[in-house]
Amino acid sequence: MNNPSSTNVLVSRKATEADWDSILKLLEETKLSFWFTGEENYKNFFVVINGQTNEIVNCFAIYIEGKVGILKQFATSKTLQGKGIGKYIANEIIPKTGKELGLEEIYLQGGNKEPFTSMSFWEKTIFKHIDKDEIKNDFAKNYITNLEKNLPEDFFREATFYIEV
Ligand SMILES: CC(C)(COP(=O)(O)OP(=O)(O)OC[C@H]1O[C@@H](n2cnc3c(N)ncnc32)[C@H](O)[C@@H]1OP(=O)(O)O)[C@@H](O)C(=O)NCCC(=O)NCCS
Repeated sequence: MNNPSSTNVLVSRKATEADWDSILKLLEETKLSFWFTGEENYKNFFVVINGQTNEIVNCFAIYIEGKVGILKQFATSKTLQGKGIGKYIANEIIPKTGKELGLEEIYLQGGNKEPFTSMSFWEKTIFKHIDKDEIKNDFAKNYITNLEKNLPEDFFREATFYIEV
């Protein structure tokens, strides 16, 4: 999946209830289910599928308020990691999805501590690393502030990223 011709087979769509078991499996194998609040629902999720095999290769959730989206639970299937799938989705599919949803900005909090080290991944995408103080709207600011309040010191600090779509 390192060349554009193989990412060409990837298609994204809103998740359906029938996808939920596969999404849960993906989030468990990538340890992201650790962050579940109990309110997770397929309705916020999107799946990215290999159009040739129908296999779900990645999923992500977008939580929306007004024109601002918060990206969460972004995961590539463990056996397919490191092949450029995540980067392609972050750079191409997420902005396109954001536009379709009428969003102007998308925020996310990356991980900066083992086993959550996605910060180095996001640094390689079109997402921009920003200081929490630069966040302009309350929806994103409150999300980051609450995350930090509930986590040990240093955990996930200074790992906020955003794009304008
Ligand atoms: C983070 C994740 C989504 C990346 O997906 P992926 O499909 O493996 O990413 P890619 O293959 O497109 O990697 C792009 C680049 O980021 C790097 N990278 C990927 N995952 C990384 C990680 N966890 N830590 C550090 N660097 C990482 C790759 O080495 C690659 O570098 P290169 O372009 O210099 O070769 C995937 O590793 C994953 O699902 N991790 C567990 C869940 C998670 O942490 N999600 C993020 C929540 S914010």
